[in-house]
Amino acid sequence: MDMNILVTGSKGQLGSELQELSANSGKQHFFFYDLPELDITNQDLVDRVCREHDINVMVNCAAYTAVDKAEADVETAFRVNRDGSAVLASCAKERNALLVHISTDYVFNGESCTPYRVNAPATPLGVYGKSKWEGEERVRQIAPSYMIIRTSWLYSAYGANFVKTMLRLGAERQMLNVVDDQIGTPTYAGDLAAAIVTILEHYDCSKQYRETYHYSNEGVCSWYDFAVAIMDLSGLSCKVLPVSSAHYPQIAPRPSFSVLDKSAIKQEWGVEIPYWRVSLASLLEKIQPRATE
Ligand SMILES: NC(=O)c1ccc[n+]([C@@H]2O[C@H](COP(=O)([O-])OP(=O)(O)OC[C@H]3O[C@@H](n4cnc5c(N)ncnc54)[C@H](OP(=O)(O)O)[C@@H]3O)[C@@H](O)[C@H]2O)c1
Repeated sequence: MDMNILVTGSKGQLGSELQELSANSGKQHFFFYDLPELDITNQDLVDRVCREHDINVMVNCAAYTAVDKAEADVETAFRVNRDGSAVLASCAKERNALLVHISTDYVFNGESCTPYRVNAPATPLGVYGKSKWEGEERVRQIAPSYMIIRTSWLYSAYGANFVKTMLRLGAERQMLNVVDDQIGTPTYAGDLAAAIVTILEHYDCSKQYRETYHYSNEGVCSWYDFAVAIMDLSGLSCKVLPVSSAHYPQIAPRPSFSVLDKSAIKQEWGVEIPYWRVSLASLLEKIQPRATE
């Protein structure tokens, strides 16, 4: 059966990477939408677009992702991340479509010291994490067939992210403080996009899925380690100094440990996940080809 796939939030990091991958996609027909053409909080519009393209799979990459801003703009964060997810889930129910919904490591409070399994209790610390968790719960309650994929520390050639910020600051400054007491794993959005395409290639459209998965790159590091690797691999001489979160106050609280256990997605879909530093090197090669020579 042909697969008509709606990708929401298509101009964001993950949506753009999916767009890049989907050029030659055989039986998979992708339809990419973002604001202002498609607001996921508008049920009529979502239903209309899905009818128009006879959508049977939805990949929700749309989200309110401004973690600090969300603390003051609670209403918008919940409207997009919770209510928008419910709108997509209702449309998926109406059409009997699969909903692939992207979520975050920020649903966890960071008190664990071993990688979070998919069924670990969610106790988000900030507004963004709470709104994403409630979005997940709406998907579970409403959509008859769904895959929720939590990811962490996303970066890509598109949009704003930590890698691009480090490249800019690394070129401007001789020294930079970066926190070394928040531990997690970076994820190259291109790798996650490839994993989603692999799943869609192999999924059985006659089955219903009610799954939660974790996907990040392999390995573990602090933001400090990540920053040092960005400077090293880019040939930037900026010195990165480790500091504690207490010395670098941020508006929203963040989990101090958010390493995700990825065994479920690997075992069930045979997804092969690259080590974070290898993916970082490929991204840097892509966006600044001479830097890594
Ligand atoms: N970025 C991270 O570090 C990170 C970490 C873990 C999980 N995630 C999750 O991964 C997913 C993808 O993240 P990303 O980094 O690709 O996000 P992103 O770059 O911020 O892209 C999100 C896209 O959604 C759009 N959007 C916002 N409100 C919308 C609405 N009401 N209707 C339709 N589209 C809307 C945004 O448009 P505007 O730009 O115009 O607002 C943007 O194009 C999200 O679910 C996010 O929560 C991200």
